[in-house]
Amino acid sequence: MPAKADIRRRLLAWYDAAARTLPWRVGPSGAGSGAAGPSATGRADPYHVWLSEVMLQQTTVPHATPYFLKFLQRWPTVGDLAAAPDAEVMAAWAGLGYYARARNLLACARAVADGLGGVFPDTEAGLLALPGVGAYTAAAVAAIAFDRPANVVDGNVERVVARLYAVETPLPDAKPELKTLAGALVTAERPGDWAQALMDLGATLCRPRSPLCELCPLAGACAARAGGDPQAYPRRRAKADRPRRHGAAFLLVSGGDVALVSRPPKGLLGGMLGLPTSDWRATPWTSKEVLAAAPPLTGGMAGNWTPAGQIEHVFTHFALTLQVWRAETVGRPQGFVWTPITGLDALPSVFLKAARQGLAPQARLL
Ligand code: ADE
Repeated sequence: MPAKADIRRRLLAWYDAAARTLPWRVGPSGAGSGAAGPSATGRADPYHVWLSEVMLQQTTVPHATPYFLKFLQRWPTVGDLAAAPDAEVMAAWAGLGYYARARNLLACARAVADGLGGVFPDTEAGLLALPGVGAYTAAAVAAIAFDRPANVVDGNVERVVARLYAVETPLPDAKPELKTLAGALVTAERPGDWAQALMDLGATLCRPRSPLCELCPLAGACAARAGGDPQAYPRRRAKADRPRRHGAAFLLVSGGDVALVSRPPKGLLGGMLGLPTSDWRATPWTSKEVLAAAPPLTGGMAGNWTPAGQIEHVFTHFALTLQVWRAETVGRPQGFVWTPITGLDALPSVFLKAARQGLAPQARLL
């Protein structure tokens, strides 16, 4: 097995030459290439690192980057974010998914701004004590913003390590083993660069499919490559199919406005605005059932609901088939948040998809 020092030297040399330029980064060893700018210490600003890491959980760099830039422009400091109304932050988060993270983001920003004078703790343990900050985020911020030798393990790192050592245990059972193997490669030398080098390698070369082993600085050390089928790692336990749920979404239009409702604060898409919907259940809905669940239309317009096709959306734990029904109404019945069609891009993706489906010819406005 190649020496750890050899693996480290090769990967850090690759990172020095090939690190991605990302707006929350200062570049390898504080070279100052980040668009958002380094802090006075020459390290990345902890607020930038924390914000980017929360956004990057479950989301790719290209998808998260415009959100990161938008947040920084709107809320340049953690104090600005802490002072923002919940609804504005939730709306700005729309499209990133996993909305509990946006609520945790605000709780954490407020704890840092109100309890710590706007200064992030500079240790993994201190970060972990913040509301909404889990093991991954604490390790990532400690390593990247404060150069602490933390063991930063996300899906990319798990894949790199599983291949490097040809770990046969399938995920998710392999997680502790992969974390231990990753931890053994961390040292006090350039821990922030090390964490990001592993992540960049996983994202750009050691990709889930079609890994670019010819370009990989660790190819000569990689047990999975030596075995001939690196893509077969990490091993995975056969997954049960995602269950499917069925529901209907209601697009009630009045002039250029659409009726939205606030979802309950807890649970899936909690606290977000959305279209009114039926329950989401295991069996498909008949038209009669849909009409019984539709928002009531006053003034003899109840027959106005018309089917407008359906959309599919995949959540982490289930897939959803959503019928879309549309009705026009005059006036603006109470109990809704009436929102211009052109303002619907602040909706979570599932509702934006449904609204586009229901609006069909007008959809190019969105
Ligand atoms: N994915 C999550 N965090 C990242 C980072 N800091 N750099 C690159 N990819 C990442």
